[in-house]
Amino acid sequence: MTDIITITDLHKSFGTQKVLDGVNLKIEKGKITIIIGKSGTGKSVLLKNIIGILKPDSGHITYKGEDITTFNTDKILDMRRDFGYLFQDAALFDFMNVGENIAFPMVEQLEMANKKELAEKVAYLLDLIDLPGIENKLPSELSGGMRKRVGLARALAVDPKIILFDEPTTGLDPILADSIDKLIVKVTREMDLTSLIISHDIPSAFHIGDKIAFLYDGVIAFDGTPQEAEQSNHPVLQRFIANSLGRRAHA
Ligand SMILES: Nc1ncnc2c1ncn2[C@@H]1O[C@H](COP(=O)(O)OP(=O)(O)OP(=O)(O)O)[C@@H](O)[C@H]1O
Ligand SMILES: [Mg+2]
Repeated sequence: MTDIITITDLHKSFGTQKVLDGVNLKIEKGKITIIIGKSGTGKSVLLKNIIGILKPDSGHITYKGEDITTFNTDKILDMRRDFGYLFQDAALFDFMNVGENIAFPMVEQLEMANKKELAEKVAYLLDLIDLPGIENKLPSELSGGMRKRVGLARALAVDPKIILFDEPTTGLDPILADSIDKLIVKVTREMDLTSLIISHDIPSAFHIGDKIAFLYDGVIAFDGTPQEAEQSNHPVLQRFIANSLGRRAHA
């Protein structure tokens, strides 16, 4: 069991609003870790700190033994080569077709220039997400679920060691959500990745997660296997799980 990312006593406020108030979390290599928690608790803020888009007020984030909170912009960009990420609000570029969208991080992050190589990689990734041959379609011509899958392909384009996904299945119908879940498990296992995923979907989180981390009141109030989460007598976590399942049942 090796930890690839270690977060220690992480604090982040916006003005007088304390969002992260001493987060501690270890991300295990090769595993799927799912962060759950109410809307507005700081899940996206936590992810953005990990990738250096936001700087914490205090605390440490160690990646490969180095504290990334001390990195300058060059070192952050360098570190990001290892990361494939799909943010909640990050859409595809409307003015680029699917192929160009997927090739974008390969050109920008990996500085790949060989057109043939790029096209082959794009075709491989489209196969992987089960949407072969849609290179020339525009994002506006795709369904929401297809766009999510293309976003996933774009995140995988850089051959990441770690993938970070913010709500990859939100807004999708259960069948599509399930296919995204399966894809995440598949790429994590087959490409030997580490996955850190934020999810609102409790059944899915418990189904695919090797580990569940519950962000509550600025801290990770619980972390453990899905089984440990179900069996824990943590009252707030139990209430959160029950509410989420209740909402789903009535949806
Ligand atoms: N750049 C920012 N500037 C100021 N406040 C911010 C910024 N980013 C986030 N916040 C605030 O931090 C809090 C946590 O936001 P965050 O987006 O992390 O929530 P979340 O847990 O991801 O919620 P959701 O489940 O709805 O996506 C919110 O109150 C938000 O308004
Ligand atoms: Mg969020």
